[in-house]
This record gives sequence, C-alpha cells and structure tokens, in this order.
Amino acid sequence: PSLKDVFAGDFMLGSSFLVSEIADPDGPHAQLLEKHFNALTAGNELKWDATEPQEGQFDFTRADRAFHFAQASGIAFRGHTLVWHSQTPDWVFYDEKGNLASKELLYERMKRHIETVMGRYKGQIYAWDVVNEVIEPGDNRPNGLRNSLWYQIAGEEYIEKAFEFAHAADPDAKLFINDYNTHQPEKRQFLHDLIKRLQAKGIPVDGVGHQMHINIQYPSAQEIDETIAAFADLGIEQQITELDMSSYTNDTDSWESFPLEQQIRQAYRYKEIFDVFRKYNDLITAVIFWGKDDANSWLRTFPVVRNNWPLLFDERLQAKYAYWALVDPSKVP
Ligand code: G3I
Repeated sequence: PSLKDVFAGDFMLGSSFLVSEIADPDGPHAQLLEKHFNALTAGNELKWDATEPQEGQFDFTRADRAFHFAQASGIAFRGHTLVWHSQTPDWVFYDEKGNLASKELLYERMKRHIETVMGRYKGQIYAWDVVNEVIEPGDNRPNGLRNSLWYQIAGEEYIEKAFEFAHAADPDAKLFINDYNTHQPEKRQFLHDLIKRLQAKGIPVDGVGHQMHINIQYPSAQEIDETIAAFADLGIEQQITELDMSSYTNDTDSWESFPLEQQIRQAYRYKEIFDVFRKYNDLITAVIFWGKDDANSWLRTFPVVRNNWPLLFDERLQAKYAYWALVDPSKVP
C-alpha cells in the first residue's frame, strides 16, 4: 500500500530526497518517492550555499531539478531553508574589509536572497522553513536564542526580518520556524515563547516545524505527545519536517547489521509515534521523513561514518517492518 493513502485523512506524508537520487526520473528511487509521498523536501538543494554561493550570483541548477521533479510528479514541495547558521557561505556575514557585516548590510543580503529564491518559485512552494534551528539553550542566553552570526549582528530582530521579507516575497506560502529536539522542555519553552513574541508583534508565522530526529529509545511517545500539545495554544499549524529514528542512542556504537529484535522494536516505536501524530491530526498538516531509505540517510555519515537503519525502506529499497507497522501492523512479528 501507498503510505500517503494510508494517512490521507490525517496529514500529508512526505520524504526528503537529493537530486542524485532522481538522476533517473523513472528509476526505482523516483518511483518509490512517487508511490508513497505527497510532500517532498529537497535535502540540500535549496540551502543558501547551493542557491547563492557567491554574493548576488544565484545558481538554481540543483534547486530547479529537485523542484521540477516534484512538480512533474504532482507532489507538494517544501522549501528548506532560507535563514540558517549552517550551510550558509561566510561572505554573508562579513563586509569587504573582512569585518563583521553591519546589520544594514546583513538585511540587504537577506532580503535579496529571500526575494530571489522565494520569488523564483512564487505560488508553487506550499511552505518554507524561513528560519532553521534558531534556538540553542546550550548557548546560555536568557531568550534561548542561538548565538549565531545572525544573532551576533542583528539580535532577535533578524528572525522578524526574515519572516517579513518572506511574506513579501510570496504571500501565499506558509511560513515556518523549524527546529530539532523540540521535545526537550527547556528548548520547547524557548521556542514557544519566541513564537509568542513574534505573534505579539504581528510577524506572520504560520507554523512550527519539529524536525524530529529521534532514536530507537528517546524521546518517548508520551514526550512527543506533550510536545505537540505544548504548541497548540499558538493557533498555528505543526509539521513533522525531518523524521528519522537512529538505531543508536549514542555516538560510538556501530553494528554490522540491524538485529531482528531492534528492527521489530523500531517498527513498534514508529507505530506508537504515528498514533500520536494521528491523535493530533487537527494540528499536524504534514509528516515528512528525512529520507526514504537507509542507504541514503545522513545518519550514515553523521556524527561518524557507520551503519544506521533509521528509515522505512532498506538498502535495496525493500519495505522494512517499520513500514509494515504503519500500513499493516499484523505483518510485524
Ligand atoms: O556533495 C558533497 C560531495 O561532493 C563531497 O565529496 C562530500 C564529502 O564531504 O560532501 C558532499 O556534501 C555533503 C552533503 O550533505 C551532500 O551529501 C556535505 O559534506 C554534508 O555536510 C551534507 O550534509 C547535509 C547536512 O544537512 C549538512 O548540514 C545532509 O545531507 C542533510 O541531510 C542535512 O540536513 C539537515 C537539515 O538541513 C536540517 N536539520 C538537520 C538535518 C540533518 O543534519
């Protein structure tokens, strides 16, 4: 069965992909994406370092390839991402003398970037991650904001500007604030409070994205439940934007193969978590996996090169128990 059909009454079901996977638009990777998903995100192709590597010199070769694949397949496409501390070229933050850019210069660059990238796909990308990973409790700031170069130059205001520029560039796109580990109570609270402050200023935030890079043990379904509930009072939509489940709970283990017991455990855990998503299908508008098959997962290279089996399909694109747990749990031992 097609995953998107199974969840048709609940939310869109999606996956990220890389253009390298769809080099053959009729190949098995493309077919799998088209069969199971009605929402797609480009894994890297719309990021700043890909679309504007040098100041004012835009390159949409890979972005267009990703976008056109989704469009030709009739699949909704999500824009990831506009303002982030990572995968953003250094020139963005410095002036020609090599000093930290002024706020004015930073905003000028931000505005041109957002206008040009969003403008190119105006009306055709349903949602954008306008800002990504702006909360970092580890940076010990009273407002919980990440001490990125964006923040160092412009303070919290850069987030407001990003949303304002994005709204002007494509008024129909849903504008998201996206982050990981939103289940951690402290981080969750910082993110929630930030969105409240933005709303109080009339900043157009349409949704919160939970990346949801989780592992075989943490967080619990209960914690995920509490997380979705914690944002309900904001009256905005929620999306699970980058779901995957690492086979490890640490950075050091590495196994030859994925033991059967763990495969089954992963399957039931996916099922449990999707039951939570379903419970909140009035709030959650999309659940998007960060990749479809284990072989192409970023977790095979991060934090170290090792085996990992975080997704629904295996190296040969065969359905795992995790897939069956979502479409027909009776097939899982
Ligand atoms: O394309 C080059 C290749 O030419 C080169 O030989 C190779 C050697 O390092 O690198 C390749 O680029 C890599 C790229 O992925 C494409 O695979 C980069 O090094 C690598 O850093 C990059 O990683 C991406 C990561 O973001 C970077 O931050 C992952 O693919 C991508 O899945 C990941 O996605 C992020 C989301 O954007 C935000 N949330 C977390 C998520 C996972 O980290």
